[in-house]
Amino acid sequence: MGSVPAASVPAGARVCAAAAVAAAGACLLSLPELRTPWWAVLLLAAVYAACGQAGRRAGLDAFYPVLLAAAFLLPPPAAALVAVPGTLLTPVGDPPRPLRRLWRAASLCLSVHATAWTYWVLGGRDAVVASDLPRALLAAAFAVPVFCLTAALLDGAMRMLADRVPARAAWRHRFVPSLPPMAVHGLAGVMMAVLWRSPHGPAAALLVLLPMYVTWWVFAQSDRERTAHRSTVRALVRAVDLKDGYTRGHSERVGQASVMIARELGMDDDRVEVIRFAGILHDVGKIGVPTRLLRKEGPLTPAERRAIELHPEYGHEMTRGIGFLEEARAAILHHHERLDGSGYPYGLSGCRIPECARVVAVADAFDAMTSTRSYRRARPVAAALEELARCAGTQFDPRMVTALTGALARHGWNPVVTSDEPAPAAAPPAAPSAVPSAAPAGGAPPAPPCRVPAATESAAESAAPSGDAAAAPPGPTAPAGGTAVAVGRAPAPGVRARGPGEGAAR
Ligand SMILES: [Fe+2]
Repeated sequence: MGSVPAASVPAGARVCAAAAVAAAGACLLSLPELRTPWWAVLLLAAVYAACGQAGRRAGLDAFYPVLLAAAFLLPPPAAALVAVPGTLLTPVGDPPRPLRRLWRAASLCLSVHATAWTYWVLGGRDAVVASDLPRALLAAAFAVPVFCLTAALLDGAMRMLADRVPARAAWRHRFVPSLPPMAVHGLAGVMMAVLWRSPHGPAAALLVLLPMYVTWWVFAQSDRERTAHRSTVRALVRAVDLKDGYTRGHSERVGQASVMIARELGMDDDRVEVIRFAGILHDVGKIGVPTRLLRKEGPLTPAERRAIELHPEYGHEMTRGIGFLEEARAAILHHHERLDGSGYPYGLSGCRIPECARVVAVADAFDAMTSTRSYRRARPVAAALEELARCAGTQFDPRMVTALTGALARHGWNPVVTSDEPAPAAAPPAAPSAVPSAAPAGGAPPAPPCRVPAATESAAESAAPSGDAAAAPPGPTAPAGGTAVAVGRAPAPGVRARGPGEGAAR
């Protein structure tokens, strides 16, 4: 719930916590006057505490169906009491721990009380006693949002006072996102309450918890698995960044640009996640390339270039057997292929190049052009898109270029880089008016020739990118696939110029 700072708790937050504890105490005051079914309170409180303890060992959050069943079965004060022991037993991470525990217990107690009161007013408890499931569900449809609202209000208030965040930020995204999962918990709570009052009794009601708990556990495991995947990917990217300091942050930005393209193309969430991994890991094979080549300042010899051009295959091999990267591996292997078949490693052309590789190729080239390196400065977003559009149909898939153009026109380009080094100077956001129209759907735009900058090259760039001509000292230019373009350095003899995506040869 509320996030009270560890070192010093602001006075406002203390007052808020004290008020919540006092209000919770007031809610419980009427308990002695009620005909409270103490055995039911104790049983539900014990089940809630046990589920909570078991869940925390598995990395899960509170298990709400028991609390909601209590709210649907018991008088409001008795239902509120069910939440208290389990919450007080819950370990808290940061000090001041007693205050945090009290705050959590009080806020949950108040939320359950408000829910139980709403349910009782709407006749839900009578419906449960009468086993009238439709009416019980209808009342729950109103009572569960009350739970979410109360919890969101209390949590937001504490966040505002303890963390001193503006009210809007404190309450934003607290109520609505909590509704879907709580609706599921509420459904289980109603089933549990109806069974509890049925001839089958509490034992049958507790059995409802088993499938619910298993589902809860599976979802949580899946969430943990996703977190583990992201950590694995981050570790791999860090290894690449450490090896090739020139391109630090490039992988993350390519991942973000790839996601923008994928979303613009209407891919589903699972596919977007694959594309994200593909973009982030496209150059993971650089780990297998000698560092001296990646960091070489001068022109590359043909042998050195051939060694660098092995990185897609290294990356493909490195990620073999990692199940969640299966489709991303195709992008890792083929992100330097060109639509006209002049790329590497296999010289695939057109639709024979996997779709995810065509996405990553465009994202890779775009970031290469819009990032500052120690040896050249960034190009404006509009200029980079113009260059991509020029090479659409020969080097890049026009669909992907169009998608990136459209996405940037709507969202701009503000990549978030978590690398531990200062991010390269950001390219200016893509103002809609500055974004050129998308590449034509049918093929390569007419002249001038395709000459996009090498994506992430330093020394390799000496053999490449004309796209840098705008930012570099003037030099001879040539079409891609022909002779090299000088970007302040002499091209390596016998080395052909590279296109934008190809620059990621480094
Ligand atoms: Fe690459």
